[in-house]
Amino acid sequence: MSNVEVIAKEPLDPKWKAHHIEPAKPDHYLESNFFTAEEYGQIYDVVVKTMQRGLDEAGDRWAFFLKISNNGFYILNEDEEGKVKYPVAIKDKIKAKMELLMGEPVRDPGVFFARYTNEAGMPSLMPHCDKHHDRMHVTNTIQLNKTVDWDFYVEDTLYQTDANDAVWFSGSHHVHFRPDSNFQDEDYYDIFLVSSQRINDEKNPLDKEWFATQENLCGHFSNMRYKDIFEKTLKKQYEAEGCQ
Ligand SMILES: [Fe+2]
Repeated sequence: MSNVEVIAKEPLDPKWKAHHIEPAKPDHYLESNFFTAEEYGQIYDVVVKTMQRGLDEAGDRWAFFLKISNNGFYILNEDEEGKVKYPVAIKDKIKAKMELLMGEPVRDPGVFFARYTNEAGMPSLMPHCDKHHDRMHVTNTIQLNKTVDWDFYVEDTLYQTDANDAVWFSGSHHVHFRPDSNFQDEDYYDIFLVSSQRINDEKNPLDKEWFATQENLCGHFSNMRYKDIFEKTLKKQYEAEGCQ
């Protein structure tokens, strides 16, 4: 069963809230049964075919995936030749939902499938904000198949999701993270990730100072506020970075 729970914590220092005023950010919430059975199957068609092509052409099912070892996942992006292409109807549906949510036009969303697995490195998702665009992001992470549970947090809200549950939030504005993972070697956790921005959002560029504040806020979540759920991941980071 899906579960959404607000974690009781001290209120955040008002200094962190200051930058939340402008631009306005959407609320985060859970939407169950996001894809139809057909859409869900179509995404896995793309994934499985790409794994097979990797095996056929390179003897490696991950050959056409991007491996992100730091976070322990493989990403499947669309490619320029059109060999990896998610159905247009799915992208249109997501865009329409985003426009409904934002009340105005958004850019064509960026979408990708990702699989977290020990094979890619120990899965981890430390508190962070997405920063691939200088406008507010509207973001949706949809949980697909999994063999292991892995909680998802947006600020102080804990989302425990089931297959086909979508969590809507703003990747640029909401600190988001997952606790230390406990994957066995055969375990995996799949998501479909979607992100876009409002086309007409010219008034509120996210500048260097804004990103710096967000970065500090994320550090506060990692090293203070939720430190207790990152023992393994923090240890891994210190080892990798050679800190004492
Ligand atoms: Fe993110």
